[in-house]
Amino acid sequence: MNTKTFELSNPATGVKTGLPVRSGTIGPDVIDIGSITKDHGVFTFDPAFGVTASCESKITYIDGDKGILLYRGYPVEQLAAKSSFMEVAYLLLHGELPNESQLQGFVTSISRHTMINESLLRFFNGFHHNAHPMAMVSAVVGSMSAFYHDSMDINNPRHREIFSHRIIAKIPTIAAAAHKHAQGQPFIYPRNDLDYCSNMLNMFFAVPCEPYRVDPVAAQALDLLFILHADHEQNASTSTVRLAGSTGANPYSAISAGVSALWGPAHGGANEAVLSMLEQIGSVDNIPKYLAMAKDKNSHFKLMGFGHRVYKNFDPRAKIIREMCYKVLEKLGRADNPLFELALRLEEIALKDEYFVARKLYPNVDFYSGIIYSALNIPRSMFTVMFAIARTVGWVSHWLEMIGDPSMRIGRPRQLYTGPTLRDYTAIDKRG
Ligand code: ACO
Repeated sequence: MNTKTFELSNPATGVKTGLPVRSGTIGPDVIDIGSITKDHGVFTFDPAFGVTASCESKITYIDGDKGILLYRGYPVEQLAAKSSFMEVAYLLLHGELPNESQLQGFVTSISRHTMINESLLRFFNGFHHNAHPMAMVSAVVGSMSAFYHDSMDINNPRHREIFSHRIIAKIPTIAAAAHKHAQGQPFIYPRNDLDYCSNMLNMFFAVPCEPYRVDPVAAQALDLLFILHADHEQNASTSTVRLAGSTGANPYSAISAGVSALWGPAHGGANEAVLSMLEQIGSVDNIPKYLAMAKDKNSHFKLMGFGHRVYKNFDPRAKIIREMCYKVLEKLGRADNPLFELALRLEEIALKDEYFVARKLYPNVDFYSGIIYSALNIPRSMFTVMFAIARTVGWVSHWLEMIGDPSMRIGRPRQLYTGPTLRDYTAIDKRG
Protein backbone atom coordinates (compact mmCIF):
# COMPACT_ATOMS: atom_id res chain seq x y z
CA MET A 1 0.00 0.00 0.00
CA ASN A 2 1.27 3.47 -0.86
CA THR A 3 1.82 5.69 2.18
CA LYS A 4 3.98 8.47 0.73
CA THR A 5 2.32 11.84 0.26
CA PHE A 6 3.39 15.24 -1.02
CA GLU A 7 1.95 18.10 0.99
CA LEU A 8 0.42 20.95 -0.97
CA SER A 9 -0.85 23.96 0.91
CA ASN A 10 -2.60 26.99 -0.50
CA PRO A 11 -1.92 30.03 1.73
CA ALA A 12 -4.77 31.97 0.11
CA THR A 13 -7.44 29.48 1.14
CA GLY A 14 -5.66 27.70 3.98
CA VAL A 15 -6.46 24.37 2.31
CA LYS A 16 -3.84 21.64 2.76
CA THR A 17 -3.83 18.39 0.83
CA GLY A 18 -1.65 15.32 1.03
CA LEU A 19 -1.21 14.36 -2.61
CA PRO A 20 -0.48 10.62 -2.99
CA VAL A 21 3.01 9.87 -4.28
CA ARG A 22 3.13 6.83 -6.56
CA SER A 23 6.22 4.71 -7.09
CA GLY A 24 7.01 2.70 -10.18
CA THR A 25 9.22 -0.38 -10.22
CA ILE A 26 12.20 1.87 -11.11
CA GLY A 27 12.56 5.58 -11.85
CA PRO A 28 11.41 8.72 -10.09
CA ASP A 29 8.19 8.80 -8.07
CA VAL A 30 5.24 10.74 -9.44
CA ILE A 31 2.81 12.95 -7.57
CA ASP A 32 -0.80 12.06 -8.25
CA ILE A 33 -2.37 15.48 -8.78
CA GLY A 34 -5.85 14.14 -9.53
CA SER A 35 -7.47 15.93 -6.58
CA ILE A 36 -5.92 19.40 -6.83
CA THR A 37 -8.67 20.95 -8.94
CA LYS A 38 -11.35 19.73 -6.54
CA ASP A 39 -9.36 20.73 -3.42
CA HIS A 40 -7.57 23.88 -4.59
CA GLY A 41 -9.44 25.05 -7.70
CA VAL A 42 -6.28 25.07 -9.89
CA PHE A 43 -4.89 23.10 -12.83
CA THR A 44 -1.21 22.34 -13.41
CA PHE A 45 0.77 24.00 -16.21
CA ASP A 46 3.33 21.91 -18.08
CA PRO A 47 3.63 22.93 -21.73
CA ALA A 48 5.32 20.27 -23.89
CA PHE A 49 4.78 17.79 -21.02
CA GLY A 50 8.33 18.20 -19.75
CA VAL A 51 7.56 16.86 -16.27
CA THR A 52 4.21 15.11 -16.62
CA ALA A 53 3.67 11.35 -16.61
CA SER A 54 0.67 10.98 -18.92
CA CYS A 55 -0.02 7.34 -18.13
CA GLU A 56 1.15 4.24 -16.31
CA SER A 57 3.07 1.83 -18.55
CA LYS A 58 4.93 -1.47 -18.27
CA ILE A 59 6.55 -1.44 -21.70
CA THR A 60 9.72 0.65 -21.90
CA TYR A 61 11.93 2.35 -19.32
CA ILE A 62 14.46 5.12 -20.00
CA ASP A 63 16.94 6.63 -17.56
CA GLY A 64 18.04 9.70 -19.48
CA ASP A 65 20.84 10.65 -17.07
CA LYS A 66 22.48 7.24 -17.13
CA GLY A 67 21.73 6.50 -20.80
CA ILE A 68 19.68 3.37 -20.02
CA LEU A 69 16.94 1.96 -22.27
CA LEU A 70 15.02 -1.19 -21.28
CA TYR A 71 12.31 -2.97 -23.28
CA ARG A 72 10.12 -4.88 -20.79
CA GLY A 73 13.16 -4.83 -18.45
CA TYR A 74 15.71 -6.10 -20.98
CA PRO A 75 18.62 -3.72 -21.84
CA VAL A 76 18.47 -2.67 -25.48
CA GLU A 77 22.19 -3.53 -25.82
CA GLN A 78 21.47 -7.21 -24.99
CA LEU A 79 18.49 -7.34 -27.34
CA ALA A 80 20.55 -5.71 -30.12
CA ALA A 81 23.34 -8.27 -29.62
CA LYS A 82 21.28 -11.44 -29.19
CA SER A 83 17.73 -10.98 -30.42
CA SER A 84 15.82 -10.33 -33.64
CA PHE A 85 13.26 -7.68 -34.54
CA MET A 86 10.45 -10.24 -34.60
CA GLU A 87 11.40 -11.51 -31.14
CA VAL A 88 11.57 -7.94 -29.83
CA ALA A 89 8.17 -7.23 -31.40
CA TYR A 90 6.71 -10.22 -29.55
CA LEU A 91 8.37 -9.05 -26.32
CA LEU A 92 6.99 -5.52 -26.61
CA LEU A 93 3.49 -6.72 -27.49
CA HIS A 94 3.23 -9.53 -24.93
CA GLY A 95 5.58 -8.52 -22.11
CA GLU A 96 7.72 -11.70 -22.19
CA LEU A 97 10.24 -13.21 -24.57
CA PRO A 98 8.61 -15.97 -26.65
CA ASN A 99 9.55 -19.63 -26.49
CA GLU A 100 10.34 -21.29 -29.82
CA SER A 101 6.79 -22.29 -30.72
CA GLN A 102 5.39 -18.91 -29.67
CA LEU A 103 7.94 -17.13 -31.86
CA GLN A 104 7.24 -19.49 -34.74
CA GLY A 105 3.50 -18.91 -34.42
CA PHE A 106 3.98 -15.13 -34.29
CA VAL A 107 6.32 -15.02 -37.30
CA THR A 108 3.93 -17.22 -39.30
CA SER A 109 0.98 -15.03 -38.44
CA ILE A 110 2.87 -11.85 -39.44
CA SER A 111 3.95 -13.39 -42.74
CA ARG A 112 0.34 -14.42 -43.51
CA HIS A 113 -0.79 -10.78 -43.29
CA THR A 114 1.79 -9.12 -45.53
CA MET A 115 -0.37 -8.61 -48.63
CA ILE A 116 -2.46 -5.47 -48.96
CA ASN A 117 -5.83 -5.18 -50.64
CA GLU A 118 -5.44 -4.46 -54.37
CA SER A 119 -7.75 -1.45 -54.06
CA LEU A 120 -5.45 -0.02 -51.43
CA LEU A 121 -2.57 -0.44 -53.83
CA ARG A 122 -4.36 1.69 -56.41
CA PHE A 123 -4.42 4.63 -53.96
CA PHE A 124 -0.78 5.28 -54.80
CA ASN A 125 -1.69 6.26 -58.36
CA GLY A 126 -3.44 9.30 -56.89
CA PHE A 127 -0.13 10.70 -55.65
CA HIS A 128 2.42 12.61 -57.69
CA HIS A 129 5.65 10.68 -58.28
CA ASN A 130 7.45 13.20 -56.05
CA ALA A 131 5.03 13.00 -53.13
CA HIS A 132 6.92 12.54 -49.88
CA PRO A 133 6.66 8.85 -48.87
CA MET A 134 5.69 9.80 -45.29
CA ALA A 135 2.61 11.59 -46.69
CA MET A 136 1.72 8.49 -48.74
CA VAL A 137 2.31 6.08 -45.85
CA SER A 138 0.30 8.17 -43.39
CA ALA A 139 -2.60 8.45 -45.87
CA VAL A 140 -2.62 4.77 -46.84
CA VAL A 141 -2.30 3.52 -43.25
CA GLY A 142 -5.20 5.82 -42.28
CA SER A 143 -7.27 4.52 -45.17
CA MET A 144 -6.89 0.96 -43.83
CA SER A 145 -9.55 1.99 -41.31
CA ALA A 146 -11.96 2.07 -44.26
CA PHE A 147 -11.04 -1.53 -45.16
CA TYR A 148 -11.19 -2.93 -41.64
CA HIS A 149 -13.83 -0.84 -39.89
CA ASP A 150 -16.71 -3.25 -39.35
CA SER A 151 -14.36 -6.11 -38.46
CA MET A 152 -12.55 -4.07 -35.80
CA ASP A 153 -14.19 -4.04 -32.39
CA ILE A 154 -11.61 -2.48 -30.07
CA ASN A 155 -13.24 -4.20 -27.08
CA ASN A 156 -12.66 -7.65 -28.59
CA PRO A 157 -9.16 -8.99 -27.65
CA ARG A 158 -9.01 -11.23 -30.74
CA HIS A 159 -9.82 -8.29 -33.03
CA ARG A 160 -7.09 -6.31 -31.29
CA GLU A 161 -4.60 -9.11 -31.87
CA ILE A 162 -5.50 -9.39 -35.56
CA PHE A 163 -5.14 -5.62 -35.92
CA SER A 164 -1.70 -5.70 -34.31
CA HIS A 165 -0.40 -8.48 -36.57
CA ARG A 166 -2.01 -6.95 -39.64
CA ILE A 167 -0.47 -3.50 -39.28
CA ILE A 168 2.99 -4.82 -38.33
CA ALA A 169 2.86 -7.13 -41.38
CA LYS A 170 1.50 -4.61 -43.86
CA ILE A 171 3.45 -1.46 -43.06
CA PRO A 172 6.60 -2.66 -44.92
CA THR A 173 4.39 -3.53 -47.92
CA ILE A 174 2.85 -0.04 -47.85
CA ALA A 175 6.29 1.56 -47.45
CA ALA A 176 7.66 -0.45 -50.38
CA ALA A 177 4.65 0.53 -52.53
CA ALA A 178 5.36 4.21 -51.74
CA HIS A 179 9.00 3.70 -52.74
CA LYS A 180 8.12 1.91 -55.99
CA HIS A 181 5.59 4.61 -56.85
CA ALA A 182 8.27 7.28 -56.41
CA GLN A 183 10.67 5.25 -58.60
CA GLY A 184 8.04 4.62 -61.29
CA GLN A 185 8.65 0.88 -60.94
CA PRO A 186 6.07 -1.91 -60.63
CA PHE A 187 5.05 -2.96 -57.17
CA ILE A 188 6.71 -6.17 -55.93
CA TYR A 189 4.48 -8.49 -53.92
CA PRO A 190 5.63 -9.72 -50.50
CA ARG A 191 7.35 -13.09 -50.24
CA ASN A 192 6.42 -15.11 -47.20
CA ASP A 193 9.44 -17.39 -47.51
CA LEU A 194 11.67 -14.45 -46.51
CA ASP A 195 12.18 -13.06 -43.03
CA TYR A 196 10.67 -9.66 -42.14
CA CYS A 197 13.64 -7.49 -43.19
CA SER A 198 14.69 -9.57 -46.20
CA ASN A 199 11.13 -9.40 -47.48
CA MET A 200 11.19 -5.65 -47.05
CA LEU A 201 14.43 -5.28 -48.98
CA ASN A 202 13.11 -7.56 -51.69
CA MET A 203 9.95 -5.48 -52.08
CA PHE A 204 12.11 -2.34 -52.23
CA PHE A 205 14.80 -3.42 -54.65
CA ALA A 206 13.59 -6.37 -56.73
CA VAL A 207 12.34 -5.71 -60.27
CA PRO A 208 10.33 -8.13 -62.43
CA CYS A 209 12.93 -8.35 -65.21
CA GLU A 210 15.83 -9.96 -63.35
CA PRO A 211 16.48 -12.03 -60.24
CA TYR A 212 17.31 -10.18 -57.03
CA ARG A 213 19.17 -11.66 -54.11
CA VAL A 214 18.82 -9.98 -50.74
CA ASP A 215 22.20 -9.19 -49.20
CA PRO A 216 22.17 -10.85 -45.75
CA VAL A 217 24.43 -8.06 -44.40
CA ALA A 218 21.81 -5.50 -45.38
CA ALA A 219 18.95 -7.56 -43.88
CA GLN A 220 20.88 -8.00 -40.64
CA ALA A 221 21.71 -4.28 -40.43
CA LEU A 222 18.06 -3.39 -40.97
CA ASP A 223 16.94 -5.89 -38.34
CA LEU A 224 19.26 -4.27 -35.80
CA LEU A 225 18.12 -0.75 -36.70
CA PHE A 226 14.52 -1.87 -36.29
CA ILE A 227 15.25 -3.30 -32.82
CA LEU A 228 16.78 0.03 -31.76
CA HIS A 229 13.82 2.04 -33.09
CA ALA A 230 11.03 -0.28 -31.91
CA ASP A 231 9.88 1.69 -28.87
CA HIS A 232 10.80 4.70 -26.76
CA GLU A 233 8.01 5.11 -24.19
CA GLN A 234 5.84 8.26 -24.30
CA ASN A 235 7.54 10.18 -27.13
CA ALA A 236 5.57 12.59 -29.35
CA SER A 237 4.34 10.02 -31.89
CA THR A 238 3.47 7.37 -29.28
CA SER A 239 1.61 9.94 -27.21
CA THR A 240 -0.22 10.97 -30.39
CA VAL A 241 -1.27 7.35 -31.00
CA ARG A 242 -2.46 7.08 -27.39
CA LEU A 243 -4.39 10.37 -27.54
CA ALA A 244 -6.03 9.57 -30.88
CA GLY A 245 -6.76 6.01 -29.73
CA SER A 246 -8.22 7.16 -26.41
CA THR A 247 -11.26 8.51 -28.26
CA GLY A 248 -12.10 4.97 -29.35
CA ALA A 249 -11.06 5.82 -32.93
CA ASN A 250 -10.27 3.02 -35.35
CA PRO A 251 -6.67 2.02 -34.47
CA TYR A 252 -5.43 2.29 -38.08
CA SER A 253 -6.32 6.00 -37.89
CA ALA A 254 -4.47 6.27 -34.59
CA ILE A 255 -1.35 4.69 -36.15
CA SER A 256 -1.66 7.05 -39.11
CA ALA A 257 -1.68 9.98 -36.65
CA GLY A 258 1.52 8.52 -35.15
CA VAL A 259 3.16 8.37 -38.60
CA SER A 260 2.32 12.05 -39.13
CA ALA A 261 3.70 13.06 -35.74
CA LEU A 262 6.90 11.10 -36.38
CA TRP A 263 7.55 12.96 -39.62
CA GLY A 264 8.66 16.25 -38.00
CA PRO A 265 12.39 17.04 -38.00
CA ALA A 266 12.41 17.40 -34.19
CA HIS A 267 11.35 13.72 -34.01
CA GLY A 268 11.78 10.91 -36.56
CA GLY A 269 12.32 13.30 -39.47
CA ALA A 270 15.75 14.05 -37.99
CA ASN A 271 17.40 11.09 -39.77
CA GLU A 272 16.61 12.64 -43.15
CA ALA A 273 17.61 16.10 -41.88
CA VAL A 274 20.97 14.83 -40.58
CA LEU A 275 22.07 13.69 -44.03
CA SER A 276 20.96 16.96 -45.62
CA MET A 277 22.87 18.83 -42.90
CA LEU A 278 26.05 16.78 -43.40
CA GLU A 279 25.91 17.46 -47.14
CA GLN A 280 25.33 21.13 -46.45
CA ILE A 281 28.36 21.27 -44.11
CA GLY A 282 30.33 19.51 -46.83
CA SER A 283 33.78 19.41 -45.24
CA VAL A 284 35.49 19.38 -41.86
CA ASP A 285 36.70 22.95 -42.45
CA ASN A 286 33.12 24.19 -42.40
CA ILE A 287 32.22 22.59 -39.04
CA PRO A 288 33.08 25.68 -36.90
CA LYS A 289 30.83 27.87 -39.07
CA TYR A 290 27.86 25.50 -38.67
CA LEU A 291 28.47 25.02 -34.94
CA ALA A 292 28.38 28.80 -34.56
CA MET A 293 25.05 28.84 -36.42
CA ALA A 294 23.67 26.08 -34.17
CA LYS A 295 24.56 28.18 -31.11
CA ASP A 296 23.14 31.41 -32.50
CA LYS A 297 19.64 31.96 -31.11
CA ASN A 298 18.79 34.20 -34.09
CA SER A 299 19.44 31.36 -36.51
CA HIS A 300 16.93 28.55 -37.07
CA PHE A 301 19.78 26.11 -37.69
CA LYS A 302 20.08 23.28 -35.19
CA LEU A 303 22.58 20.48 -35.13
CA MET A 304 20.28 17.75 -36.39
CA GLY A 305 20.68 14.38 -34.67
CA PHE A 306 21.88 16.14 -31.52
CA GLY A 307 19.95 16.58 -28.28
CA HIS A 308 17.09 14.72 -26.74
CA ARG A 309 14.26 15.58 -24.36
CA VAL A 310 15.06 12.66 -22.07
CA TYR A 311 18.69 11.66 -22.68
CA LYS A 312 21.05 14.04 -20.95
CA ASN A 313 23.86 11.57 -21.42
CA PHE A 314 24.69 9.45 -24.46
CA ASP A 315 21.66 7.96 -26.23
CA PRO A 316 22.50 4.22 -25.86
CA ARG A 317 21.04 3.56 -29.31
CA ALA A 318 23.44 6.08 -30.88
CA LYS A 319 26.41 4.21 -29.39
CA ILE A 320 25.25 0.92 -30.93
CA ILE A 321 24.47 2.52 -34.28
CA ARG A 322 27.87 4.22 -34.48
CA GLU A 323 29.59 0.86 -33.95
CA MET A 324 27.30 -0.71 -36.46
CA CYS A 325 28.08 2.00 -39.00
CA TYR A 326 31.74 0.94 -39.05
CA LYS A 327 30.84 -2.73 -39.49
CA VAL A 328 28.16 -2.23 -42.14
CA LEU A 329 30.23 0.16 -44.22
CA GLU A 330 33.18 -2.22 -44.05
CA LYS A 331 31.10 -5.28 -44.97
CA LEU A 332 29.46 -3.46 -47.85
CA GLY A 333 32.89 -2.37 -49.07
CA ARG A 334 32.16 1.33 -48.46
CA ALA A 335 34.47 1.95 -45.51
CA ASP A 336 35.76 5.25 -46.91
CA ASN A 337 32.43 7.02 -46.58
CA PRO A 338 33.04 10.80 -46.50
CA LEU A 339 29.75 11.58 -44.74
CA PHE A 340 30.54 9.10 -41.97
CA GLU A 341 34.00 10.66 -41.56
CA LEU A 342 32.40 14.09 -41.39
CA ALA A 343 29.80 12.89 -38.85
CA LEU A 344 32.55 11.47 -36.62
CA ARG A 345 34.50 14.74 -36.71
CA LEU A 346 31.38 16.80 -36.11
CA GLU A 347 30.51 14.68 -33.08
CA GLU A 348 34.06 14.95 -31.74
CA ILE A 349 34.18 18.74 -32.11
CA ALA A 350 30.64 19.34 -30.76
CA LEU A 351 31.22 17.16 -27.71
CA LYS A 352 34.15 19.38 -26.71
CA ASP A 353 32.24 22.60 -27.27
CA GLU A 354 31.12 24.41 -24.11
CA TYR A 355 27.61 25.12 -25.52
CA PHE A 356 26.88 21.42 -26.14
CA VAL A 357 28.61 20.28 -22.94
CA ALA A 358 26.63 22.72 -20.75
CA ARG A 359 23.32 21.70 -22.31
CA LYS A 360 24.15 18.01 -22.26
CA LEU A 361 23.55 17.68 -25.99
CA TYR A 362 24.75 14.33 -27.33
CA PRO A 363 24.18 12.51 -30.62
CA ASN A 364 20.79 10.78 -30.65
CA VAL A 365 19.59 7.63 -32.43
CA ASP A 366 19.22 9.47 -35.71
CA PHE A 367 22.71 10.97 -35.97
CA TYR A 368 24.13 7.84 -37.62
CA SER A 369 21.11 5.87 -38.82
CA GLY A 370 20.81 7.79 -42.11
CA ILE A 371 24.39 6.93 -43.03
CA ILE A 372 23.55 3.23 -42.73
CA TYR A 373 20.31 3.61 -44.69
CA SER A 374 22.24 5.41 -47.44
CA ALA A 375 24.80 2.62 -47.54
CA LEU A 376 21.88 0.20 -48.02
CA ASN A 377 20.75 2.32 -51.03
CA ILE A 378 17.60 3.45 -49.28
CA PRO A 379 16.74 6.93 -50.55
CA ARG A 380 16.80 9.78 -48.06
CA SER A 381 13.09 10.52 -48.26
CA MET A 382 12.48 6.93 -47.09
CA PHE A 383 14.57 7.19 -43.88
CA THR A 384 11.71 8.32 -41.66
CA VAL A 385 9.47 5.68 -43.23
CA MET A 386 11.97 3.04 -42.08
CA PHE A 387 11.72 4.49 -38.58
CA ALA A 388 7.91 4.35 -38.82
CA ILE A 389 8.00 0.65 -39.78
CA ALA A 390 10.02 -0.19 -36.67
CA ARG A 391 8.08 2.14 -34.36
CA THR A 392 4.74 0.65 -35.45
CA VAL A 393 5.53 -2.17 -33.02
CA GLY A 394 5.89 0.35 -30.18
CA TRP A 395 2.76 2.28 -31.18
CA VAL A 396 0.71 -0.92 -31.31
CA SER A 397 2.07 -2.12 -27.95
CA HIS A 398 1.07 1.18 -26.32
CA TRP A 399 -2.33 1.20 -27.97
CA LEU A 400 -2.95 -2.37 -26.75
CA GLU A 401 -1.84 -1.49 -23.22
CA MET A 402 -4.11 1.55 -23.17
CA ILE A 403 -7.22 -0.08 -24.67
CA GLY A 404 -6.80 -3.15 -22.44
CA ASP A 405 -6.88 -0.96 -19.32
CA PRO A 406 -10.44 -0.84 -17.93
CA SER A 407 -9.74 2.57 -16.36
CA MET A 408 -8.90 4.18 -19.72
CA ARG A 409 -10.49 7.59 -20.31
CA ILE A 410 -10.37 9.93 -23.27
CA GLY A 411 -7.18 12.04 -23.16
CA ARG A 412 -8.09 15.68 -22.66
CA PRO A 413 -5.45 18.25 -21.56
CA ARG A 414 -6.50 21.55 -19.98
CA GLN A 415 -5.12 25.03 -20.76
CA LEU A 416 -4.15 28.35 -19.28
CA TYR A 417 -6.48 30.71 -21.14
CA THR A 418 -4.87 34.11 -21.94
CA GLY A 419 -7.36 35.38 -24.57
CA PRO A 420 -9.94 38.18 -24.26
CA THR A 421 -12.38 38.16 -21.36
CA LEU A 422 -16.16 38.19 -21.93
CA ARG A 423 -17.28 40.89 -24.37
CA ASP A 424 -20.35 41.64 -26.45
CA TYR A 425 -20.66 41.08 -30.19
CA THR A 426 -20.27 44.32 -32.19
CA ALA A 427 -22.22 44.87 -35.41
CA ILE A 428 -19.92 45.12 -38.47
CA ASP A 429 -20.74 48.79 -39.14
CA LYS A 430 -19.75 49.70 -35.58
CA ARG A 431 -16.25 48.15 -35.77
CA GLY A 432 -13.25 50.45 -36.24
N1 ACO B 1 21.39 22.18 -31.77
C1 ACO B 1 21.62 23.33 -31.09
N2 ACO B 1 21.06 23.63 -29.90
C2 ACO B 1 20.23 22.73 -29.38
C3 ACO B 1 19.94 21.50 -30.01
C4 ACO B 1 20.57 21.24 -31.25
N3 ACO B 1 20.33 20.10 -31.89
N4 ACO B 1 19.08 20.79 -29.25
C5 ACO B 1 18.82 21.54 -28.17
N5 ACO B 1 19.52 22.71 -28.24
C6 ACO B 1 19.56 23.77 -27.21
C7 ACO B 1 18.25 24.55 -27.16
O1 ACO B 1 18.27 25.66 -28.04
C8 ACO B 1 18.21 24.95 -25.72
O2 ACO B 1 19.13 26.02 -25.53
P1 ACO B 1 18.86 27.18 -24.43
O3 ACO B 1 18.79 26.48 -23.10
O4 ACO B 1 20.00 28.11 -24.58
O5 ACO B 1 17.53 27.79 -24.82
C9 ACO B 1 18.80 23.74 -24.98
O6 ACO B 1 19.67 23.12 -25.94
C10 ACO B 1 17.76 22.75 -24.48
O7 ACO B 1 17.04 22.25 -25.60
P2 ACO B 1 15.46 22.18 -25.74
O8 ACO B 1 15.07 22.71 -27.08
O9 ACO B 1 14.80 22.80 -24.55
O10 ACO B 1 15.26 20.63 -25.68
P3 ACO B 1 13.92 19.86 -26.02
O11 ACO B 1 13.85 18.75 -25.07
O12 ACO B 1 12.75 20.78 -26.07
O13 ACO B 1 14.16 19.35 -27.52
C11 ACO B 1 14.98 18.06 -29.31
C12 ACO B 1 14.74 18.13 -27.81
C13 ACO B 1 13.68 18.40 -30.07
C14 ACO B 1 15.38 16.66 -29.69
C15 ACO B 1 16.10 19.06 -29.71
O14 ACO B 1 17.29 18.71 -29.04
C16 ACO B 1 16.32 19.11 -31.20
O15 ACO B 1 15.60 19.84 -31.92
N6 ACO B 1 17.32 18.35 -31.75
C17 ACO B 1 17.56 18.31 -33.18
C18 ACO B 1 16.53 17.41 -33.86
C19 ACO B 1 16.72 15.94 -33.58
O16 ACO B 1 17.81 15.40 -33.68
N7 ACO B 1 15.61 15.26 -33.26
C20 ACO B 1 15.59 13.81 -33.02
C21 ACO B 1 15.32 13.52 -31.59
S1 ACO B 1 15.42 11.79 -31.29
C22 ACO B 1 13.98 11.18 -31.94
O17 ACO B 1 12.96 11.77 -31.90
C23 ACO B 1 14.07 9.95 -32.57
